[in-house]
Amino acid sequence: MNATIKLEKKHFPVLLKELVSIVSPLYGGTFIDCTFGQGGYSKKILENKNNSVIAIDRDKDVNPTAEVLKKKFGKRFSFINSTFKEINQIEVINKNIKAIIFDLGYSTNQILDYSKGLSFNSKGKLNMRMGLNKFSAHEAVNKLDEQHLRNIFKYFGDEKNANLIARKIIYERKKNFINTEDLVKIIDSSYKKKYTKSHKSTKVFQALRIFVNQEISQIINGLINSFKILPIGGYLIVVTFHSLEDKIVKFFFKNYSEVSKISRYLPDSQHKKKLFKLFNKKPIIPSDNELKINPPSRSAKLRYAMKINDEENFENFLKKFQTLIDIENLYLKI
Ligand SMILES: C[S@@+](CC[C@H](N)C(=O)[O-])C[C@H]1O[C@@H](n2cnc3c(N)ncnc32)[C@H](O)[C@@H]1O
Repeated sequence: MNATIKLEKKHFPVLLKELVSIVSPLYGGTFIDCTFGQGGYSKKILENKNNSVIAIDRDKDVNPTAEVLKKKFGKRFSFINSTFKEINQIEVINKNIKAIIFDLGYSTNQILDYSKGLSFNSKGKLNMRMGLNKFSAHEAVNKLDEQHLRNIFKYFGDEKNANLIARKIIYERKKNFINTEDLVKIIDSSYKKKYTKSHKSTKVFQALRIFVNQEISQIINGLINSFKILPIGGYLIVVTFHSLEDKIVKFFFKNYSEVSKISRYLPDSQHKKKLFKLFNKKPIIPSDNELKINPPSRSAKLRYAMKINDEENFENFLKKFQTLIDIENLYLKI
């Protein structure tokens, strides 16, 4: 039998205690919650009367929760239905921004809403759009060529059967459009082993979710644009849920937190300056207690840093992940 995650009906905000211990010394200003979801982080921060929250979410289904917070907290809370890549469009002058927070991934509510098709337990037409998307998984799976599909599965899902799955998709879709159940069957038939540790569709579904929601360019530009609006002394806090996300966040913080000498013969002015003070080299992970209450939190990793310099040049960050950005840009061929 495949091991599947048993999802609770309620969304538990992950690493909430840890988040509070990081942000509470900063209380008395504005916090930007880039991934509002069920509002777990925003509500907690708003409990302190000296705080304001500007929340962002791409999924309009969170609007009713945002309305409740608007009623309760008045001017201290505002909500924008947008993607966080556009964070630099927020007017931040005189707002006393203290921290920008990302809790990446999906909420339990989104996974359990089968009309969104984020789960391999969904039925019918492929979807996977979280909101404000340019295309769906239906278009990606039924229109992209074999090589593109293979790259998506390989690079975004680390799927070892990427070649075979892509080939089978091209063959099967000649007969009919491929829907969610068809895709699960194709993946299942591509595995020689009958039993696997996690559900066989996990990796391909993750890869398609990343591609459809353009998550790589969202994270990369979200981090860069957050840096642009964050004042010196402000904190950037990021919770990731899979290794690809964490790799990007880890590189961003580590690379710009170390004074790396390009050459010892260059004058001091040309040495790269630190942009952040990094607090923990290792990420903060959920406690045993949290894992017991909320098992899906097991892959969460929190990294955070304080901005200490305004000079920016993110060329090598973009260069490092250019292959992934190029794969996401394949959507232009749909
Ligand atoms: C893990 S949930 C956040 C849960 C939240 N911290 C809480 O306590 O309820 C992630 C949320 O981020 C949103 N999201 C994901 N990517 C986004 C993006 N690029 N821009 C804006 N919102 C995004 C999703 O729609 C989802 O509601």
